[in-house]
Amino acid sequence: MSDRSPTRRQVLIAGSATLGVAAVSGWGTASASPVREPFTLGVASGDPLPDGVVLWTRLAPDPLAADGLGGMPSRIVPVEWQVATDERFRHVVRAGAEIARPESAHTVHAEVSGLRAGAEYFYRFRTGNQISPVGRTKTAPRPGARLDRFSFAFASCQNYPEGFYTAHRHLAEEDLDLVAFLGDYIYEGVGTSKIGRSHTPAAEIFTLADYRVRLAQYKGDADLQAAHAAFPWAVVFDDHEVENNWAGDISQPDTEPDQDPAVFRQRRAQAFQAYWEHMPLRRAQHPSGPDIRIHRRLTFGDLVDLHLLDTRQYRDDQVAGDARLDPSRTILGARQKEWLLRNLAGRTARWNVLAQQVFFAQRDFTSGTADSFSDDAWDNYYVERNLVRERLARASNPVVITGDVHASYVADVKADFEDPSSATVATELVGTSITSGGDGTDQNAGDAVQLAENPHIKFINRKRGYVRNTITRDSWTADYRIVDYVTRTGAPIQDRARFVIEDGRAGAQQA
Ligand SMILES: [Fe+2]
Repeated sequence: MSDRSPTRRQVLIAGSATLGVAAVSGWGTASASPVREPFTLGVASGDPLPDGVVLWTRLAPDPLAADGLGGMPSRIVPVEWQVATDERFRHVVRAGAEIARPESAHTVHAEVSGLRAGAEYFYRFRTGNQISPVGRTKTAPRPGARLDRFSFAFASCQNYPEGFYTAHRHLAEEDLDLVAFLGDYIYEGVGTSKIGRSHTPAAEIFTLADYRVRLAQYKGDADLQAAHAAFPWAVVFDDHEVENNWAGDISQPDTEPDQDPAVFRQRRAQAFQAYWEHMPLRRAQHPSGPDIRIHRRLTFGDLVDLHLLDTRQYRDDQVAGDARLDPSRTILGARQKEWLLRNLAGRTARWNVLAQQVFFAQRDFTSGTADSFSDDAWDNYYVERNLVRERLARASNPVVITGDVHASYVADVKADFEDPSSATVATELVGTSITSGGDGTDQNAGDAVQLAENPHIKFINRKRGYVRNTITRDSWTADYRIVDYVTRTGAPIQDRARFVIEDGRAGAQQA
């Protein structure tokens, strides 16, 4: 990758930019493009640092081609990129070129550096005479530098056959510094629907080609593209990027050939490869066979530390009954656990966020003295959850943000979940799905039981949407933004609830 400053000539001619037209603004005369309309999957940026971001696109004139190669020839193709301080690219401050390779499905991951901290930029790509749509992004404020306000949204679970991405269209209109996506970006299963958004291919996916086609199908959605183009994203996967409820090397119990862990690891390798290719992730996250390091920390001034976790790859298999109490059980794995506890014990920002996949607080689903818990959440890793909770309690303003359950929740993380009078030591904010589960309802029949059995749970709602968070030195305001329906297009966005966490006082209060 080259990373050169624009020449004076490039800067001077940048004034004539007309978006979408070749041979403008800082780029020399274009040669004929080797492909027509390659930018069908939009652009994205991600993992902002104080001096740069990673820029993403893919060349895919035929994104659903069954071989997963997007209709591209099997040879390398150069792709140029530009970063400017203005939308019309009059002031290009960085430019460079990447090689899009067939072995990475002609995806581009340009790690731009040399930018100013906490600043807004615009970016675009060119190959031949074809220019991509323009994306907007923002670098992170310098770690430790005083920051008075940070705004981000988190979202998860966007099953394509179950609804339209109306929530993403509204998300794109927000004023945000970041979007965190907490998993289930795709679903691996068979999906047919009545709304004309069936899965391609129309079968459960196992191969690299199939995962690529599935990701390309999702990324072909204009509303999702708008949300990517509007803000940098920080992504982690959950289960469905690979397979429902997988755990470490263990496939979910079913009849497929991947019940052999060696076969499942091959499937995982192909799923991770396709996932990395299609996400705005840095090379540090590039998978090595069946292994990927997705857990990482992003820091925003002295205000926010975002610890992005991986609760799938290193976990022990799900167990039934009291086996969940086994103290040797892990959901984070030894290395990630040590990394997280070290982070939390060190010098941190004012707000410490665990951005992760599955429900952290206790959730008893059964009335009366009997109890039952999800085997796919932190309740199934009881001792490790308690350890993380204890360390969280000592950190500055701990907030856990969660996806997975296709419902909005707000929960107090109690020092002892069995004792409602025990201290509240952290706050959990759970985001609903973008589409998974279809239109949804405000609450279902089981929610009254959950609220009664778990007095630390303060809010449940099962409409679709996302959570918008405004963080200041004094407070964290979480707005639960929902749409009334996703099986038709055009639903307006509504505020269903607002919760506020005050600095120095764990637990959210409804405003
Ligand atoms: Fe999901």
